[in-house]
Amino acid sequence: MGATIIDGKAFAAGVRARVAQGVAELVARGIRPGLAVVLVGEDPASQVYVRNKGVQTREAGMESLEYRLPASTTQAELLALIARLNADPAVHGILVQLPLPAPLSADEVINAIDPAKDVDGFHVLNAGRLATGQKAMVPCTPLGCLMLLRAQLGRLAGLNAVVVGRSNIVGKPMAQLLLADSCTVTVAHSRTRDLPAVCRGADVLVAAVGRPEMIAGDWIRPGATVIDVGINRIERDGRTRLVGDVDFAAAVQVAGAITPVPGGVGPMTIACLLANTLTAACRAHGLAEPEGLTV
Ligand code: GUN
Repeated sequence: MGATIIDGKAFAAGVRARVAQGVAELVARGIRPGLAVVLVGEDPASQVYVRNKGVQTREAGMESLEYRLPASTTQAELLALIARLNADPAVHGILVQLPLPAPLSADEVINAIDPAKDVDGFHVLNAGRLATGQKAMVPCTPLGCLMLLRAQLGRLAGLNAVVVGRSNIVGKPMAQLLLADSCTVTVAHSRTRDLPAVCRGADVLVAAVGRPEMIAGDWIRPGATVIDVGINRIERDGRTRLVGDVDFAAAVQVAGAITPVPGGVGPMTIACLLANTLTAACRAHGLAEPEGLTV
């Protein structure tokens, strides 16, 4: 027996194609969606992400604006840039790549972004709207996970969902999305007692802890759907490899369906960023939002 492998790479390509179609319709009306990405400092992983975002933004037919600032940038300078982007009608989405170098305050910078342009969905207003069931910009990674889950399972109502990880970027908004889809949601974390037993109760298990292969095969309920958000670089057999937060080789024997790493959740994040930018552009111009790209 083996689990269905959820092909996030193919699913993300489908999302990007639908976004490109929506962008083409806006361009035909004289509106080109624009995404501004701000990178402060030289973090190598962030540089790779930002480059990929730029490439995929342009491939979708949108305008990509990149702002690369030195690590010495002050809070005031960064806030001044955000104010300029907020006021620029050609910019529909603003993303500040995290983490920011010390001593910059990510919270203050994120909350300075116009919530309507907050395509990361990290602004307190968007987090609050999501938590209260109001129309929000939804964080990209959990949105991508929800799309995969709905495609795999159909209706999620009544399922036991366990989210391992409580970050503002993934764990908390993931829990809100699952709750809104009427799952019974448990948020587990590093201080949870008997984490294996909690995980064994999950029909849907979302792993977002950032610890390589922490979730063992015997933590998984037979037939469960496993979404692995982890992207961890490890050395094995003298090679650098990417692994998730789940022990894939063991889990695939037990689960009903599982996302691989790479090729699972990863490609969905940027696809959903593009979807959010398209959504923001439609809302800014009072146009109907694209079907199936928002919650
Ligand atoms: N750093 C890691 N993940 C993310 C993300 O989704 N958005 C931003 N802005 N920074 C990140």
